[in-house]
Amino acid sequence: MNETINLMQAHRSIRSYTDEPVSDEMLDQIIRAAWHGPTSMNSQDISLVVVRDAAKRARISELAGGQPWIAQAPVFITVVIDFHKTDLGVRKSGHTQMIHESMEGFGVAAVDAGITLGNLMTAARALGLGIVPIGSIRRNPQAMIELLELPPLTFPLVGMCIGHIKNDAPLKPRMDIGTFRHDERYDASGYAAAINAYDQTIMEYWQKLGRADGLPWSENLGNSYKQLYFPLVKPVAAMQGLLNDK
Ligand SMILES: Cc1cc2nc3c(=O)[nH]c(=O)nc-3n(C[C@H](O)[C@H](O)[C@H](O)COP(=O)(O)O)c2cc1C
Repeated sequence: MNETINLMQAHRSIRSYTDEPVSDEMLDQIIRAAWHGPTSMNSQDISLVVVRDAAKRARISELAGGQPWIAQAPVFITVVIDFHKTDLGVRKSGHTQMIHESMEGFGVAAVDAGITLGNLMTAARALGLGIVPIGSIRRNPQAMIELLELPPLTFPLVGMCIGHIKNDAPLKPRMDIGTFRHDERYDASGYAAAINAYDQTIMEYWQKLGRADGLPWSENLGNSYKQLYFPLVKPVAAMQGLLNDK
C-alpha cells in the first residue's frame, strides 16, 4: 500500500505531547505543504497564525474551554478565513468585494480552511508529529481575534496543535463505511442499523481504554447538537463584516 494512504488511514488525534520543540525546518515544511493547497478561484482566502509563545497558548487553551493539550503542544496554528487579503486584490481591480457578506462566501472559505487543515495534519503526521484539530477556538471568537490581532473581514475558524507525541492514541473506529460512501445515489436505508452497531462499537472502544465516562456516539452527539454550541460565531462574524446577507 502507498505510504501516504497508509498514513491517512492511520489518522488519530493526539492529546499528549512532550516538551520537545518542533524545529523551524519541520514547521516550515508543514506550512509550505498547506500553502500549496488549492483555494476556490485561487482566492488564497486563508491565512495561518502560528503561535509558539507559551503564554499565548495557555490563553488559547483557556478560551477553548480548558483544553490542556493546547498549552502543552509547542505549536498552535489558527486557520483564519481571510477576506481582508482578497478585499485588497478586489479593490486593486477597481471593484467592491461583496462575497464576504454571503453564506456562499463563508461556505467557500470554510471549505478552503478545511483543505488547509487537512494538509497541515497530513504534513505534520508525515514528519512523525502528533496533531489535534481544535474547533473550540470558536467558543470565544472575539477574544481570539484580539489575541491574534486579526483585522475586519477575517475569522478564526479552526486551529490545530502540533507537537512530538508523548502518549500515542489508538485508532478510533468509524461508523460502517456504507454510511459514508454512496454509489450513484444517496441511500440512507442502512443508517439506523449502522448507528446502533456503532454505538456498541464505540462503547467497547471506551471500555478498552478504561474510559468510564465514554458515551455511545448518538448520546455524545445529542449532548452537543441539542444546542447551538458556539453561538458567538454568527454575531462575531457579523461584527467582522462577514455573513451579513439577509
Ligand atoms: C474541525 C474539527 C474540530 C475539532 N475540535 C476539537 C477540539 O476542540 N478539541 C479536541 O480535543 N478535539 C477536537 N477535534 C478532534 C475530534 O474530536 C476527533 O477528530 C474525533 O473524535 C475523531 O477522533 P480521531 O481524530 O482520533 O480519529 C476536532 C476535529 C475536527 C475535524
